[in-house]
Amino acid sequence: MKLNINGRSREVDVEAEMPLLWVLRDELDLKGTKFGCGIAQCGACTVHINGEPVRSCSYPASAAVAQKITTIEGISRDSKHPVQVAWVEHQVPQCGYCQSGQIMAAVALLKKKPNPTDADIDAAMTNICRCGTYARIRTAIHAAAKSAAGKTAAPKA
Ligand code: FES
Ligand code: FES
Repeated sequence: MKLNINGRSREVDVEAEMPLLWVLRDELDLKGTKFGCGIAQCGACTVHINGEPVRSCSYPASAAVAQKITTIEGISRDSKHPVQVAWVEHQVPQCGYCQSGQIMAAVALLKKKPNPTDADIDAAMTNICRCGTYARIRTAIHAAAKSAAGKTAAPKA
């Protein structure tokens, strides 16, 4: 099957029901997306399908055909997406294992709600972090929202 991943067409020879996460990691060597629970609970495997966050451990590869798939490797060329910059500034990652999923969830949230409230963040960010970085995640999302707003603000006359 042909998959569109991070703007590139990739061909893989896999069973239709193979979870997308396995295709990404084992077939295409895109190891930024992590395996945590395998049952759509933790969010470590979050990628975007047409901009929507999905848990790739429970998403059959065949369902991703003809969709736009974005992984953590595809959100910026230089690791300078406002969310990535805010994550570094606010030292969000601890062990780091959950963080690519957290970043993908945060990027999707900010696309929908460029200036989210704490309640919006709590509702959207359902990914689990065993290191308890939730407060830093919230701070970093607010910072990313502010910096993205600054970049897109109309220049002063
Ligand atoms: S590994 Fe997919 S949700 Fe946990
Ligand atoms: S940073 Fe360790 S699990 Fe989230």
